Amino acid sequence: MRLLTTFLVACFTLATQANEVYTVIANPGENASNSIRINWHSDIDSENTYCLYTECNDTNWEHSKKAVPQSELCTAFDSMYSKTADNKNIYEQAKFIRNTIELNKLKPGTKYMYKIVPCDNSSETYYFKTAPAEGVWTAGIISDFHAYTPIPNRVKSAMNMIKTLEQCNNADLDMMLHVGDIIAWGGSYSFWKDLYTNEPFKKYVWAGVNGNHDNMDRTNKKNTNNFFRYANNNPENGYTGEIGVCYHFTYGNTLFIMLNNEDMRSKEGLAAAQDWVKKVIKENPAKFTVVMEHYQWFFGTSGKFSQYTRWNELFDECGVDLAIGANNHIYARTNAIYQGKETDGSKGTIYIQTTSSDNERGQAMKEWTDNKDIIKYRWCEGPRSISGLTMKNVGDKLYLKLYDRYGNIIDTVTVLAKK
Ligand SMILES: [Fe+2]
Repeated sequence: MRLLTTFLVACFTLATQANEVYTVIANPGENASNSIRINWHSDIDSENTYCLYTECNDTNWEHSKKAVPQSELCTAFDSMYSKTADNKNIYEQAKFIRNTIELNKLKPGTKYMYKIVPCDNSSETYYFKTAPAEGVWTAGIISDFHAYTPIPNRVKSAMNMIKTLEQCNNADLDMMLHVGDIIAWGGSYSFWKDLYTNEPFKKYVWAGVNGNHDNMDRTNKKNTNNFFRYANNNPENGYTGEIGVCYHFTYGNTLFIMLNNEDMRSKEGLAAAQDWVKKVIKENPAKFTVVMEHYQWFFGTSGKFSQYTRWNELFDECGVDLAIGANNHIYARTNAIYQGKETDGSKGTIYIQTTSSDNERGQAMKEWTDNKDIIKYRWCEGPRSISGLTMKNVGDKLYLKLYDRYGNIIDTVTVLAKK
């Protein structure tokens, strides 16, 4: 009798087991006009899940397609020292199944919706938009909000900034770019899981770079690019050790190259990244080439050189049009620079670096002593900074606008396509 009861209880438990799906995100495929990559996580003992997707105008899902993911056990975040949302010290238990899929043969410039099924919250619908084959597109740019569940206002500030960018754009953006440090400790799985429940993660394609905070755990002793890798499904076209972390993708007429600073600290690390960047640019000619990394080009406090001097010769040589950095929490922007001098924009690279956007972890500017001839503008609100940018492509121009939290335009710059 006892055996039978145990059996029945076990059956009932199985039948009612939660089938949870979380940390869902859409990343660009190598050609974002026809390929998008989805990542989601599910419980180890849950049923197999798959992705159901269709164009947004197929409101009844009549033409939806089923895409079966690759699934693997992920233990990279397990037993990491962390904090709970109510500020208690814990070792997070975080073993799960990581599911990834590349959706191909999509229509350019088209809005799609998708669901992950079966799951308990299968009414949840997510969205992405493919890049247009040609024509206008607009991306939002944000960084350094250091998601940290004990202080939810950080993420709230950044998400409100994205809303402000949408209002300033008078429409939704086409995709979001982030320049790293979106998580306070990348090893804290609950921070990613919580962040991805925010609306912008459910409706945009996100393309980002690994920041030093995304790369670290609370103890700063178990740092790895796996946190960023497994919380995304980026194109697997990077170089050794950086597959799914460094990557490139083409969005309309623009080639984006995404770097990982944490593995460029040594001479050898920098050389490996630079060899890869040269090769990618050579093999993927585009009207605009944009390179993104987390670290700043200049120290915004004084204007002193930072990563600029490690990259400016390569950018000159390869014709990089725009270089986007972050980390310093102070906005700094040049006009086009070639061989160390400002040009009329027909040649050279525009360097830009974002502020923090969490209203908490910024820093104040100090006296501007260096590079006054090439840095055109610096801006921040001190330790409590929030800003974001839009980048709009119209034909031969990329228009960048820096907005403050109120939607005021603080700075603008235009990238010209080179002949
Ligand atoms: Fe940061």
